[in-house]
Amino acid sequence: MGEALNGAKRTIMCGELRESHVDNSSTVMGWVQRKRNLGGLIFVDLRDRTGILQVVFGEEINKEAFEKADTLRAEYCIAVSGKVVRRQSPNDTLPTGMVELQGEEIKILSESETPPIYIKEDLDASENIRLKYRYLDLRRPDMQKRLIIRHKAAKAVRDFMDAEGFLEVETPMLTKSTPEGARDYLVPSRNYQGEFYALPQSPQLFKQLLMVSGFDRYFQIVKCFRDEDLRANRQPEFTQVDIEMSFVERDDVMAMNERLIQHVFKQVLDVDVKLPIERLPYKIAMEKYGSDKPDLRFGMEIENISDALKDTEFKVFKDVLDNGGSIRAIKAENCADMGRKQIDKLTDFVKGFKAKGLAWIAYKEDELKSPIAKFLKDEELKAIVHKMDAKVGDLILIVSDAKEKVVLTALGQLRLQIAKELELLKDNKEFRFAWVTEFPLVSYNEEEGRWEAEHHPFTSPMDEDIPYLDTDPSKVRAKAYDMVLNGEELGGGSIRIHDSQLQEKMFRLLGFTQEQAWERFGFLLEAFKYGPPPHGGLAFGFDRMAMFLSGTDNIKDVVAFPKNQNAVCPMTEAPSIVDEIQLRELGIAIDIKNEK
Ligand code: AMO
Ligand code: AMP
Repeated sequence: MGEALNGAKRTIMCGELRESHVDNSSTVMGWVQRKRNLGGLIFVDLRDRTGILQVVFGEEINKEAFEKADTLRAEYCIAVSGKVVRRQSPNDTLPTGMVELQGEEIKILSESETPPIYIKEDLDASENIRLKYRYLDLRRPDMQKRLIIRHKAAKAVRDFMDAEGFLEVETPMLTKSTPEGARDYLVPSRNYQGEFYALPQSPQLFKQLLMVSGFDRYFQIVKCFRDEDLRANRQPEFTQVDIEMSFVERDDVMAMNERLIQHVFKQVLDVDVKLPIERLPYKIAMEKYGSDKPDLRFGMEIENISDALKDTEFKVFKDVLDNGGSIRAIKAENCADMGRKQIDKLTDFVKGFKAKGLAWIAYKEDELKSPIAKFLKDEELKAIVHKMDAKVGDLILIVSDAKEKVVLTALGQLRLQIAKELELLKDNKEFRFAWVTEFPLVSYNEEEGRWEAEHHPFTSPMDEDIPYLDTDPSKVRAKAYDMVLNGEELGGGSIRIHDSQLQEKMFRLLGFTQEQAWERFGFLLEAFKYGPPPHGGLAFGFDRMAMFLSGTDNIKDVVAFPKNQNAVCPMTEAPSIVDEIQLRELGIAIDIKNEK
């Protein structure tokens, strides 16, 4: 049973009361965090979005209110009026800890059953329970804090973009398959049975059309949908800060977006991001860090030691070099005493990334200890140590392979793994931004025997590389850029092709016939007949931005109602079976049994 407000008005939020309010008459409303009955006095911790306030009820203060307060239980929703007084024993862990409210009148607005999860910070309940009772989970202060940060970030983005002359324009959710390359979420059409809308993987084509329309500067905080395998930092529906600009080149887009990020981090965290953000061509990022989203908060860079071994007779390395591969290594400082077991684990780890083995050299006080010492000449060992600039106590870890990508990826991942094991980034509060640029435009899909766009088919090649489109497409770099933060991709974009001849060439390279290209992207190609401006843009993963700003590594922490790892919402139980009638209207018959 709940009482009506009946004219009661909240005068202040729980978390806002301070000593300056002493002697005020105040009314607060919120939820009972905790009740303690100490005989003649009942203490209630009352919680709302802003924090916790101690409310005290006493027979002396008001008998009726005291008796009613005695019936309170956790999560009852109440309104309390009374006088603000100084606390006899201040609690300096609470911002409101100097004062308390003397309960003179109480309304029980609604009662609560015992909640299935505790409403407290750092809850360790199972994720599915938390998601099932998400509305209770969201009562927890740490969850509220993150969503408040997310709100502040969205506001900072909008303020900045508005000041820079960008217009927020909405684009459709019921649309046609977009070129982002993940699996689409489809929505069946009732009017055209057997036909489907696709939910947008991004507003990519629409924002380009807005440039053709002359909007000049567009942005949108927008939901995107991708049916892909979920990882810690992915959701099937997620949010982008999507941006497109006309009459610009790469540097213009990058400079504007750097300032946006600087503004957001300043507004939300009061952190100063130093500009310009450093740039790293893709090739260098791969060679030094084995990743196109390098974590630059620590060194341990990959070195090529092939030269030191160019005449080696050790078969493993010799074969690799003869087959055009390379031998590379990283140096784990002060790890020369690492045990066999741990090294075996690291070996298994790199094998997970297709490496065939992991060789190592431990620089001990009196020797270079290594399982491959017997295969190598002394000079070769020394040359490796020299190249790695190793000191006594260091451990050199070596991977070789005929495929460059295997060597780099394995060592890049090993680098991150060792940093994790050595806790190199523990308590690290740094935000290390970087742009990765000059991505390859296309990559060869061995299985399907064709070239694929690395970003999407509208990404412009670098001018000086255009001739390679005909001779060696693998050499063509794109006018594409990713913004990377602490080893995660925060956003990415490119300058687009606005020249129809170049676009056709690109489609030919990607193996689209004229008809296929027109069938998929006809509306864009048609639009490009009518004076498209040079344009380019970028999209940030807004959830990821919110994750960094609120210091969590779980994307679900910054989404009010997220899906679990199986793309299911445990609260609403979506996806779910629908009525036979709904299906009939859509002309759909189900022949797969739904197993959830
Ligand atoms: P892209 O596909 O790189 O580019 O996406 C941009 C950014 O969106 C974020 N992101 C995701 N976040 C959460 N869950 C997901 N499943 C997910 N997928 C992507 C990432 C990524 O950097 N239209 C282009 C942009 C452009 O060219 O302007 C695009 O969508 O942070
Ligand atoms: P093997 O001759 O296969 O017993 O290998 C001898 C040593 O070389 C072992 O320490 C292996 O871990 C290492 N090793 C084997 N293959 C590779 C490789 N592709 N890259 C680096 N080290 C390797």
